[in-house]
Amino acid sequence: MGVQGQAGLQKARVPQQEKKRIEALFGRYINRGQMKYLRAGHLDVLETQRQGVGFTDPYSGKRMYDCFTSAGSFNVSRHNAAVMQAMEEALDEWDMGSFGLMSEPKLALAQKLVSLAPGDLKKLFFASGGGDAIECAIKLARGATGRPGIIATIKAYHGHTGFALSANGKEHYRHYFEPLMPGFSFVPFNNLEAVKKIISKDTAAVLLEPVQGEAGIFPAREDFLKGLRALCDEYGALLIFDEIQTGFGRTGRLFACEHSGVIPDIMTVAKSLSGALFPNAAVFYRDIPRLVDFVEQHPDFHVCYGGGSDIGCRVSLKALEFLMENRVWENAERMGAKLKNALLELQRENPKVIKEVRGLGLMVGIEYGYEFMGPLMSDALAQRNVFAAYSGNAPQVMRFMPPITINEKEMDEVIAAIRAAIADMKRLLPIASIAAKVPGVVKLLNSERVQTSVFSFLRYFERSGGKA
Ligand SMILES: Cc1ncc(COP(=O)(O)O)c(C=O)c1O
Repeated sequence: MGVQGQAGLQKARVPQQEKKRIEALFGRYINRGQMKYLRAGHLDVLETQRQGVGFTDPYSGKRMYDCFTSAGSFNVSRHNAAVMQAMEEALDEWDMGSFGLMSEPKLALAQKLVSLAPGDLKKLFFASGGGDAIECAIKLARGATGRPGIIATIKAYHGHTGFALSANGKEHYRHYFEPLMPGFSFVPFNNLEAVKKIISKDTAAVLLEPVQGEAGIFPAREDFLKGLRALCDEYGALLIFDEIQTGFGRTGRLFACEHSGVIPDIMTVAKSLSGALFPNAAVFYRDIPRLVDFVEQHPDFHVCYGGGSDIGCRVSLKALEFLMENRVWENAERMGAKLKNALLELQRENPKVIKEVRGLGLMVGIEYGYEFMGPLMSDALAQRNVFAAYSGNAPQVMRFMPPITINEKEMDEVIAAIRAAIADMKRLLPIASIAAKVPGVVKLLNSERVQTSVFSFLRYFERSGGKA
């Protein structure tokens, strides 16, 4: 269902006074900095009537396309009816369950997952979320190899927990909390020579996303992945793929590693595993003695209450059933190609605004010349009913990751909105190019704090002009 013209979905609007009250309380009790940031970028919206590819903002009455989907969490659409029903049925019969005890839902989901996983990834651990799955994967690699070294990639994103943050390749997230875990080193993505220089008999694992998401949508080259597989085998290191963002159809295959045919030793999944209705995550590992023996000898090497809960497993089973029955990854490939072609056309028309278009399936990004253009574009899109987020570790890249159930007409509407937003950006280009020539100005404009202040000022100006 498209997000435009859905009169049936329109609900009572929230009056401006009520909006101000909610904003003030959100700032007071949750996060004032985030509130300022959202307001500055026209993202001070509430998500009501979540359905299909979007939601309605009750302040403005606008239907918004969700092209962020919490970084690939809503693959089977917002509020998927079949998954919602499975959740209601699960509540009749199950609760979270007791951690560590056997249960039918856990077993049913584990069997389903390993039947879908590529190669001999035939065993798994449940985890409570993406970051927790990465913790489990790194502990498994260190425990099974008895080695400390983890090689990760520059600008990678693996979450905000201890090991995951230590593998996070952006200073911005790390430096307030240092020292982080020792033993982590970083290489440029898609650069096998750099890995060759540092891999050794101390390396427990090489960890990467098959398509870097937060780094700015960089698909791994096939020769890079094949080279990594061979290097890991040569040095006795493990290969870990983080498919938390790329998994469950997002890239046009059920798992992104199917594009290259390279099977990792350990693979993490989360987000869309449960249709984004109930937290659940999993860590697949290969049925090989080194890994299996370690887990058998240390069955409690990783413990979490929330992962593999009975309700979570029931909901995940239905989300998987929906994916498989509808072969939704095929739609991701088709709609991804449509979007990419349209963006490439926009690039040809606007070579000064768009530097590059990249992506795989419905994980598509456009890169601009300057970081500060990311927030500008996000703002321009929000004003055209498209919620999209620039890459966390590369603000100059705008990501488009709508639900992979999106249809042709909806995609046409998204493309039209992007076209209009680019036209807005183009108007700003002459000022931006002049400013960029002044020493130090680009650095200033790229600062999140400066952007929030400038946008907040513009927003205040706009409101006092009676527009907002
Ligand atoms: C590739 C990747 N890994 C790990 C994570 C962390 O997942 P979570 O936020 O569930 O901890 C994310 C979240 O965006 C992710 O995109």
